[in-house]
Amino acid sequence: TIVPVLLSGGSGTRLWPLSREMHPKQFLPLVGTDTMLQATWLRAAPLAGHAGPIVVANEAHRFVVAEQLQQVGATPAAIVLEPVGRNTAPAIAAAALEALRDTPHAVLLVLPSDHVVQTPEAFHAAVRAALPAAEAGKLVTFGVVPRGPETGYGYIKATMGDDEGPAPVDAFVEKPDLLRAQAYVASGDHFWNSGMFLFRADVYLAELERHAPAILAAVRASWSTARKDVDFTRLDADAFAASPSDSIDYAVMEKTDAAVVMPLDAGWSDVGSWASLREVSPQDAAGNAHHGEVVAIDCRATYAYGERLIAMIGMEDTIVVETPDAILVGRSDRIQQVKDVVAALKARD
Ligand code: GDD
Ligand code: MG
Repeated sequence: TIVPVLLSGGSGTRLWPLSREMHPKQFLPLVGTDTMLQATWLRAAPLAGHAGPIVVANEAHRFVVAEQLQQVGATPAAIVLEPVGRNTAPAIAAAALEALRDTPHAVLLVLPSDHVVQTPEAFHAAVRAALPAAEAGKLVTFGVVPRGPETGYGYIKATMGDDEGPAPVDAFVEKPDLLRAQAYVASGDHFWNSGMFLFRADVYLAELERHAPAILAAVRASWSTARKDVDFTRLDADAFAASPSDSIDYAVMEKTDAAVVMPLDAGWSDVGSWASLREVSPQDAAGNAHHGEVVAIDCRATYAYGERLIAMIGMEDTIVVETPDAILVGRSDRIQQVKDVVAALKARD
C-alpha cells in the first residue's frame, strides 16, 4: 500500500512578500485555484487507493492544514504535529512510525507539499514503475534532468540501464558548491534530486538507525509519548526538540547503499523563485504570465501576481507582486535577491 506523506514544514521566504512565516508557499494557490498542499494531495490520491495521506506539519499550522485538506475531500490517516522544525529526516521518521502502526508493509511516497508537477500522468507512471524496487527494500529517488548548475539541489549520479525501471545510485551529493554543480551538469550522468522519495517505512527506519541513530531515538521517544486526539498526533515537545536537525538528504541519502533513481520527466519544479513561477504558469505568446487580473501592453516575459488590477506597459523580464501590505518590483534575473529584502527588513525591526 502506498501511503503518501505530505511534508509541510517549510517557511519559505523566497516568494516574499506573498509567503511569510505564517503563510508559507504550500498554503497558497500559486498556480490555479488549489493551494500547493491541496494540489499535492490531489496529484497523489490516484496512487493511494483508499489510504489518506499522513501530513507532517508544524503545530502552528494545524488548523490551516486540516481545513485545506478538508476542502478537497481528503481524509488524512494522520496529521502529525511538530513542536519545532527539525528538518526532514525526523519529520519522515515520525510519518514512518505512524504508518507502521496501521500498515505493516506501508510504502511511503514522501512528497514536499510545495512543488509543481505539470504532467501528473508522467509522475504516476514513474511512481508505479518504481514501486517494485521500493517493495524490494530500495530507497527510490526521482531524478530530474538538470537544467542548470543549481546549488540548492541534491545531485544523483547514476548509469541508466536499457529498461524503464530505476537504476542504482552511484553517488548522491546534497547541495554541492557551484564548481561541482557545473561539473555534474556537464558530465551528463547526473540528475537533480526532486526531493520526492518512495520506500518502505521499515526500511527507512532501519537506514536511519544505521546512519543517524540519534534522530531515530529522539523521534521514537517523541512519537511513543505523543498525545493523540481526533484530529492530530502531537509529538512530545521535549523529546522531539532533542533530535538533531538534519535533512533526509544529508542524514540518509548521501550515506545509504540502497538508493536507486527513477527518472522523472513530468514538468517538475520546486517553485524556488518568482521567476520559476512564471515558467510553470500558462504564458501568452510573448511569455507573459500572471495570477489575478493583469493588463500587459507591449510586454515580454513578465510575471504579475496580485489581488488588485495590475497594468504594465513596455516591460520586459519584470516581476510585479502586489499584496495588501507590500509591493515587489524586480528584474527576473535578480529576483532571487528578495532574500536581501527579507534580511533588510529583519535587520530593521
Ligand atoms: N514537516 C516538516 N518539518 N517538513 C519540512 C521540514 C520540517 O522540519 N523542513 C522542510 N520541510 C519540508 C518543506 O516544506 C519542503 O516541502 C520539503 O520538506 C523539503 O524541504 P526544503 O527545505 O524545501 O528542502 P530543499 O529544497 O532545501 O532541498 C530538498 O529538495 C530539493 C528539491 O526541491 C532536497 O531533497 C534536495 O536534494 C532536492 O534537490
Ligand atoms: Mg525546497
